[in-house]
Amino acid sequence: MPDPNSVRVAVTGGAGFIGSHTVEMLVAAKAKVLVIDDNSHPCGEPLPHEAEIVSADCGSEAAAKALIAFKPDVVLHLASKGGVQRAARDPGEHVKISLASTVGLFDAAVRAGAGRIVTASSGGTIYGEGAKLPAREIHKPAPLSAYGAAKRSEEIYMAALGLRHGISTLALRYGNVYGPRQDGTGEAGVIAITCYRLLERAAPRVFGDGGQTRDFIYVTDAAAANVAAVFGRVTGETNIGTGRETSINAVVKRLVAESGRHTKSEFVPAREFEVRRVCLNPARAHRYLHWKARVSINAGLAATWSWFRKRHSAQRAAPLGLP
Ligand SMILES: NC(=O)c1ccc[n+]([C@@H]2O[C@H](COP(=O)([O-])OP(=O)(O)OC[C@H]3O[C@@H](n4cnc5c(N)ncnc54)[C@H](O)[C@@H]3O)[C@@H](O)[C@H]2O)c1
Repeated sequence: MPDPNSVRVAVTGGAGFIGSHTVEMLVAAKAKVLVIDDNSHPCGEPLPHEAEIVSADCGSEAAAKALIAFKPDVVLHLASKGGVQRAARDPGEHVKISLASTVGLFDAAVRAGAGRIVTASSGGTIYGEGAKLPAREIHKPAPLSAYGAAKRSEEIYMAALGLRHGISTLALRYGNVYGPRQDGTGEAGVIAITCYRLLERAAPRVFGDGGQTRDFIYVTDAAAANVAAVFGRVTGETNIGTGRETSINAVVKRLVAESGRHTKSEFVPAREFEVRRVCLNPARAHRYLHWKARVSINAGLAATWSWFRKRHSAQRAAPLGLP
């Protein structure tokens, strides 16, 4: 592993949910960090003062100039707009606002002399239905959704640039990342949304029968995988998951218990383009990055609930001038 003190890392989307945790860990590891974020969906947590911050679209000329000035060794690409549902509503727009910026960023990274690019992909959507579970990276990607197809395209563009310019590239295929700082008011992130609804005294909302499963990964585990990938050298794709699947009903039940409320879920029709089961084999991540998930689902849910509850109380108290 190279000496972190001398590694210069540009992180796109560094103001977001996964990005903010990752930037904190990189700074703690003494890497020099440049954050490029257009602030379209920041998590609200202040970034460490050691990080340099440029407010720009990652595919813009301003971002390209910032990269040339910063001279990154590694570019970690976490910027992205919207999830499965938003991309499905307007796939063409998704290509413009996410994939096009991504490809521009990869090109700018190469021009700025980066020797490594790491990108956030999606193990939850890239394999589609039918993979033998837990899914391994050798399973042929068969995304069902526009979001998954765009993530697979990002992987392909990045690998092509890597081959052409002789730089190392790694795609991280995350499971469902959850934890403190996730936005509970959007349409993605069932754990954050359920915490938010419970605190607002609304019933948890479940799409379909709730028997669908996901590989939930706690955000500090995902951030640790990002850091290991930044400091690593291996090229290719790797799952970032736990190898365990948990149903939506089980997650909701646990959060309801954490909340101490007695409430039933509200079941609404299943959403299109969502796969039934997700479970990612983590063996390659262990081999490539010496990484494995450390936080169990129950510990992660308890920590997430506690964070949402404290933040909710603080937000309630603020207008009243309470400490
Ligand atoms: N959260 C998950 O469960 C999950 C699962 C699989 C993959 N991912 C991927 O991981 C990455 C990070 O996800 P997240 O959950 O932290 O999302 P997020 O929305 O919290 O963070 C994304 C950040 O990128 C910024 N951003 C968006 N478009 C940008 C652009 N064009 N240029 C510069 N900045 C831009 C936003 O302002 C935000 O700060 C994304 O690529 C996402 O698709 C997330």
